Amino acid sequence: MTDLRVEFAGLKLKNPIVAGGGPLAGTVDHIKKCVDAGFGAIVTKTVAYLKYIQRWPRPRYLLVDYKKKANDPYYVPDDYTWLHREHNSVYPPESFAKIIKEAAPYAKEHDCAIIGSINGRGLDEWVKMAKMYEEAGCSALEINFCCPFPPVELVEKPEDAFMGIAFTLEPEKGVKIIETLKNTVQIPLFAKLNPDGQDFEGMAEMFKDAGVDGLTMFANNRLMRVDIETGEPTNWGPCAGTGPAFKGHSIACIARVARTAGLPLMGGRGATTWQDGIEFMMAGANAVQYCSPIMLRGLSYVKELIRGMEGYMERRRYSNPQEFVGKALKTVYSTKEIIAKTKALYSTVDLKKCVGCGRCAEVCFYDVIEMHRKPKFYADRCVGCTLCKQVCPVDAIEMKERDNDLDHFKAYISAHPEWAAEDIKKGQF
Ligand SMILES: Cc1cc2nc3c(=O)[nH]c(=O)nc-3n(C[C@H](O)[C@H](O)[C@H](O)COP(=O)(O)O)c2cc1C
Repeated sequence: MTDLRVEFAGLKLKNPIVAGGGPLAGTVDHIKKCVDAGFGAIVTKTVAYLKYIQRWPRPRYLLVDYKKKANDPYYVPDDYTWLHREHNSVYPPESFAKIIKEAAPYAKEHDCAIIGSINGRGLDEWVKMAKMYEEAGCSALEINFCCPFPPVELVEKPEDAFMGIAFTLEPEKGVKIIETLKNTVQIPLFAKLNPDGQDFEGMAEMFKDAGVDGLTMFANNRLMRVDIETGEPTNWGPCAGTGPAFKGHSIACIARVARTAGLPLMGGRGATTWQDGIEFMMAGANAVQYCSPIMLRGLSYVKELIRGMEGYMERRRYSNPQEFVGKALKTVYSTKEIIAKTKALYSTVDLKKCVGCGRCAEVCFYDVIEMHRKPKFYADRCVGCTLCKQVCPVDAIEMKERDNDLDHFKAYISAHPEWAAEDIKKGQF
């Protein structure tokens, strides 16, 4: 019997699928629709007092490399880049607190947590919003240390530019906010980070010491694409962006923090399918946010994510996600450990299967493969990179284990053995 329930920093969620902050939950009606869709929790559209970011440039969404199919209107490609210039809610914080107050009983009735997203300038604003949101019925707060990126030239006072992403880039400034809010509200506090940051392990430690209850990794970061026909940036220059291609970076950062910080982590940014959700969780996320993928596929997609995760868990005989959260972290190895654990490889070809297409020779940059009608492999030059095997269209290539590492290192230096470092010549790493 599968049970999708997870605990996240004291919140008991009926499933780990969370609506990422944004237009999914920007009005009473939309919050209720997200509840009906089946999310375990919903992060609301961020609010801020700064008027400039309650207004949005136009047009605000742009899909780049989004391949459509005329005969399949509901087709969504596996890859694309989503660019946008959407700022915070058009409603001031006081008004959004009313939205939450109206939607909160419905969410509670349906066992769905509302996580209020706030974005302040200076402690007074943070405190005011946090109190209001707790009173309005939020189960937790997501403190926005990620977006928007207020362009300095457009704000009236320099301190207005110190919002959102600024706290990921200068995390020591976020510490005071976390400490203060921790003394202001009883509900859990999550800090949402921007992927443009660097030392996420250090940041996590700093925020944990300040009292944060969990981290959300990540929001959008700054992306830019160029239309090569016009030579102009596709969306007026660097702006917020996301897309399936970014999940690898998000997952790597989650794994880094999960291995060190011991804080509950909400994954996101690039998670598109239920499989992605499992991947984020295996890398250490306790729950996963989806925003733009739901906007592109509609709210009915949430049920598909839930069904997909349940089906997977039944097939793999997991009774609860907790059994696979962080599973991948046990086999993350350093280069030295990998070398100690594995044998060197070389490639061989089964000429009966080979169709002589030459694809293997094309990708071999170690001069192992000579093409005649069929390929000839020189094992003494093969460094076992495995690329030829991976691209072979008929699976004619097999990797074999070497008896000793010396042959492997000789292969590495086969082009210029006389110029190789002495320890490598002796097969020492
Ligand atoms: C149109 C749009 C508006 C967004 N608005 C907010 C917001 O108000 N607050 C916030 O924290 N994140 C906001 N985000 C970021 C998302 O919550 C999410 O972190 C990001 O899009 C990456 O996840 P995804 O790949 O699932 O979309 C927004 C994203 C999009 C696409």
